Amino acid sequence: MNYPEIVRIAETKKETENIKTFRFKYNKKVRPGQFFMVWISGVDEIPMSVSYTDNFKGITVEQVGEATKALFKMKKGDKIGIRGPYGNGFKTPKGKVLFVAGGTGIIPVASLIEKIKKKNAVVVFGAKTKKKLFFMDRIKKSKLLISTDNGSFGYHGFASELVEEALRKEKFNSIITCGPEKMMKKILDLGIKHKIPVQASLERFMKCGIGICDSCAINGYHVCKDGPVFDDKTLGKMKDFGKFKREASGRRVRI
Ligand code: FES
Repeated sequence: MNYPEIVRIAETKKETENIKTFRFKYNKKVRPGQFFMVWISGVDEIPMSVSYTDNFKGITVEQVGEATKALFKMKKGDKIGIRGPYGNGFKTPKGKVLFVAGGTGIIPVASLIEKIKKKNAVVVFGAKTKKKLFFMDRIKKSKLLISTDNGSFGYHGFASELVEEALRKEKFNSIITCGPEKMMKKILDLGIKHKIPVQASLERFMKCGIGICDSCAINGYHVCKDGPVFDDKTLGKMKDFGKFKREASGRRVRI
C-alpha cells in the first residue's frame, strides 16, 4: 500500500451549509470520477471524490461523520494526506451527453462537464432545496435543467422526471449519472429503454480503496477498483444495484 503524500490546504470554500471544498497542489494526473484516500491525522482515512482534476486539485466534502467533521475544521495551511487517485473514473463520452446529478452526485461529475463542449452537454441537477444547490458557476455554461424536491428553485419534483422530458425532446449519445442509487437505477432503466449507453458512479463503504478488504463489494465487483464508475452492461448484472448496500459492519441493508 502506498503511503499518503502530505499536502497543505491552499484554499477552502464553503459551498453550502454543510458542504466545503478544499484545494491543494498535487501533481498526479487524475481523471474525473476517480477518488483519493484522504488521511486526516489522528482521526481516519476516508475516500473522497475528486472535484477539481487540474493540477490545483480539490475535494468537496459533505459533513456527515467524525472524519468529515474534523476536515471541516481545517483551514488554509493545515496538512492532510493524499493517496491515489484510485478507481477507473469516467470514460470521456462522445457526442451529445446528458449528465444527471442528484445532490452531492455533482461532485465527481462537474470536472467532466467542464471538459465537454458546452453545446454537447445537457445537465440535469436535482437537490432537496435551493440552498443545497452548489457548483452552479461551474456548470452554468451548459444547458441546465434544475429540480428541487420542495420546488424552491427550478422544477418542483425529481431529477428523473426532467430526464424523461429531456429524452422525449432530444437525442443523446451518452448518459453520465451520479447521485442517490434509486435515482441512478431509474436513469439506467431509461437509458436501456432509449438505447443510450449509461455510465454511473457508485458509492459503497470503503476501507482500503485498493481491492483488498472486500468492504466495497457488490455482486462480485469491487467499487474501489473495478469502479466506482460502471457501464450499463455491468450495472445490469448487479442484482444489488439500487436495492441493497453493506454497512461498515458488513451487514447487507436495503437502500
Ligand atoms: S475498499 Fe477494500 S476492497 Fe474496496
